[in-house]
Amino acid sequence: MNAPAGHLPVLAKPVMDLLAPAPGQRVLDCTAGRGGHAELLARAVGPAGHVFLMDRDAANLAHATARAAATGTPVQGIHGSFAGCERAVTAPSAGSGAGLAVRPVDRVLADLGFASNQMDDPARGFSFQQDGPLDMRLDPSQGESAAELLARMPERDLADAIFRLGEDPFARRIARVIVDRRGSAPLRTTGQLASAVVSAYGPKARFSRMHPATRTFMALRIMVNDELGALAALLDAVARGARSAGVAGAAAGWLAPGARVAVISFHSLEDRMVKHAFAELERLGVARRITRKPVEADEAEIRLNPRSRSAKLRVIEVGAEIASGR
Ligand SMILES: C[S@@+](CC[C@H](N)C(=O)[O-])C[C@H]1O[C@@H](n2cnc3c(N)ncnc32)[C@H](O)[C@@H]1O
Repeated sequence: MNAPAGHLPVLAKPVMDLLAPAPGQRVLDCTAGRGGHAELLARAVGPAGHVFLMDRDAANLAHATARAAATGTPVQGIHGSFAGCERAVTAPSAGSGAGLAVRPVDRVLADLGFASNQMDDPARGFSFQQDGPLDMRLDPSQGESAAELLARMPERDLADAIFRLGEDPFARRIARVIVDRRGSAPLRTTGQLASAVVSAYGPKARFSRMHPATRTFMALRIMVNDELGALAALLDAVARGARSAGVAGAAAGWLAPGARVAVISFHSLEDRMVKHAFAELERLGVARRITRKPVEADEAEIRLNPRSRSAKLRVIEVGAEIASGR
């Protein structure tokens, strides 16, 4: 599968094989990013289909929308968090006039986290490789930046977050150094934060396999963007959609009977949330897991795209008829 240089869509082949979008279907890509998956989905559903794209990053959304629309498939970009996807695709303006009550969504993809262009741009503040403002917002037009968060969080909460979200064993020391340093001057740049973390590691920094700041930066990014909260909201929406999909007499839901939902996660906490949510829907008899174990990248993909190493793909099919084995 050819992809232009830049952000490579992760697990593209298994996503397409397992989601199996068909001509004429309505697809929602919750995380449009650079449009790699979106373009493939748009080609698969074709001009009779419809593609909704969401992203918190307006520039990525515009790029992905243009890329997917170039296929000739109707594409609708929606700027915002996928936490609100159910409302976004059921709004009266959603769809090409067909009305969602008539045609709910058939395929949903969420490829979580950040895109390479966001990480590579020092002005976005996601990376410690180059100095830049400590921002980290996926949508820089709203919410609190990483610098603002670091300025106000109590030391204990900071340590807990770096431990839980970053799984950094030095979390307490890191929080201590951050609080010490912010006592003299606020931490405003990625370089200042990276230097605080390296100092907290002390001589142990030399033995660290990855840059010592890696985990702290990941924890902060997850917090700044409330990434776990957004995923929980998406999984709740999927659960609501699964419960109403294809149930006779139920109010029309946003997911069609037989709709498939694919989530690619890069963090163990996220994968656990997806795994439990999907297993619970199967237990309730409103969905069937397409993947029992997460699908992961093979060596060839990891060589081409090292970021795919931690990707885990899970797919579910919703609808009471399906779950009851009809
Ligand atoms: C891994 S990239 C997606 C890449 C995309 N699949 C592609 O092929 O180019 C993740 C994208 O999701 C966006 N994003 C992350 N969390 C989001 C959320 N809660 N709601 C909407 N977009 C989000 C990021 O801004 C980023 O552009």
